[in-house]
Amino acid sequence: MINVAIDGPAGAGKSTVARAAAKELGYIYVDTGALYRAVGVYGLRHGIPTDNGEKISAILPEIKVELNFIDGVQHVFLNGDDVSEEIRLPEASMAASNVSAIPLVRAFLFDLQREIAAKNNCIMDGRDIGTVVLPDAKVKIFLTADDEERAMRRYKELKEKGSNVSFQEVLDDLRVRDYNDSHREIAPLKPAEDSVTVNTTGMNLEESVEKIVSIIKEKM
Ligand code: DC
Repeated sequence: MINVAIDGPAGAGKSTVARAAAKELGYIYVDTGALYRAVGVYGLRHGIPTDNGEKISAILPEIKVELNFIDGVQHVFLNGDDVSEEIRLPEASMAASNVSAIPLVRAFLFDLQREIAAKNNCIMDGRDIGTVVLPDAKVKIFLTADDEERAMRRYKELKEKGSNVSFQEVLDDLRVRDYNDSHREIAPLKPAEDSVTVNTTGMNLEESVEKIVSIIKEKM
């Protein structure tokens, strides 16, 4: 199977770019952040502090996370419920970042990611795909952009969904998540040694997709 890993910080446009590139290449697109978000949502629903490693680790046996692809679109299920929308709430972002620093959570989600990649030609996006989950991926891309630009993209998305957050809140949140994601002990966000870094600051979506697709085709 052909596996492409795309890693990078929050709001770099990984999901939009990876989804479009996967469509163009006829691969499935796997958003691994959705898995951490689902675990975070479980914690939020049950009033468990998502930064409490012991408590979150203890409830993992109660959780079943599954990914299903319906008409090529990924849906994430938490104990049988489709939580694909709930996991996009801003509080789920921070909860996901918190639980993702817990080693047992990462171990819990590891096999699922490996199984999907073993069975499908896919573009998988996340933070540690090229470094930990799929170290043998055929193509590895580290997608990034300046934090103010990433925050502006996220802010516009949230506004379109009717949220009343301020730009500053989005920027502050993003900086905290960037810091957490790249400073945690386990599988921190960093470019794989054999990855190609693409900085999309000042690039629009079409330009970013074109760039990624051309890197993938070149490496094949
Ligand atoms: O990509 P995202 O914003 O949906 O990810 C949510 C959080 O999950 C992010 O802050 C870090 C964590 N994450 C991770 O640690 N490893 C991954 N492969 C994907 C996401």
